[in-house]
Amino acid sequence: MENIYEKCKEAADYIASKIDARDAIGIVLGSGLGDMADMIEDKTEIEYGYIPNFPRTTAPGHKGSLVSGTINGVKVLCMQGRFHFYEGYDMQTITIPVRVMKLLGVKYLILTNAAGGANVSFKPGTLMVIDDYINFQGDSPLRGPNVEEFGPRFPDMTNALSPDLRKIADEAALELNIPIRHGVYMSFRGPQFESPAEVRFAINNGADAVGMSTVPEILVARHCNLPVLAISCITNLGAGLCGYELTHEEVLEVSNRVKGEFIELIRKIIEKM
Ligand code: HPA
Repeated sequence: MENIYEKCKEAADYIASKIDARDAIGIVLGSGLGDMADMIEDKTEIEYGYIPNFPRTTAPGHKGSLVSGTINGVKVLCMQGRFHFYEGYDMQTITIPVRVMKLLGVKYLILTNAAGGANVSFKPGTLMVIDDYINFQGDSPLRGPNVEEFGPRFPDMTNALSPDLRKIADEAALELNIPIRHGVYMSFRGPQFESPAEVRFAINNGADAVGMSTVPEILVARHCNLPVLAISCITNLGAGLCGYELTHEEVLEVSNRVKGEFIELIRKIIEKM
């Protein structure tokens, strides 16, 4: 895609004419977690359809609006609905919102998603802090001419998931007595759920969770030096591990059930950031 910087700038200028997101905490809400935006106070909502160069959400369980406001008095900018590679957009397009957040002055990014458990000790409903990832989507939003305005050609990924923010997540969980786990998230292209053999492949290669999102957003955030925390809600054991066939309804049902605890955790994390 040509002029990705110009496209992001145009979107950011439009949003900045409506809201001030400087020093806000950016939040991306995953499948079935959109209601988390209800915890935001003093809300201003902008539908994606009004924002120049923003894609449209097509995934079920994903609304399409940007919500700004406060949580416990802290400024937040929340994406209620995200974009996935499987929707047909290229990786640069699905990650426009993260780069726009950077241009708006967002200082930290929290990514959430629903994911399948590859680690068999993860019961449905487990919250997992992503410590590291395996990009198995066969593409990168950083492919193509480097966008110097955002960052370097060869960004380091050693600390792609901020160690400081992961520590804050642990402290928040401990205070709330919410048992969280840590692990490696492996991203697949989707939209089909993984095959049992693919889940075994993921396990054998060190993955604790499998999903269809989040990694492209981690990559652009790291590239533009926006510290990221990512948390998965494990909604099911991966295909072949759970003994039944997977459905999106189950994903939404479990994420809906865990939402209350997830919201509490995010609220506490934000308070500590
Ligand atoms: N695989 C991929 N994505 C998912 C899953 C899964 O099992 N569960 C929720 N999102």
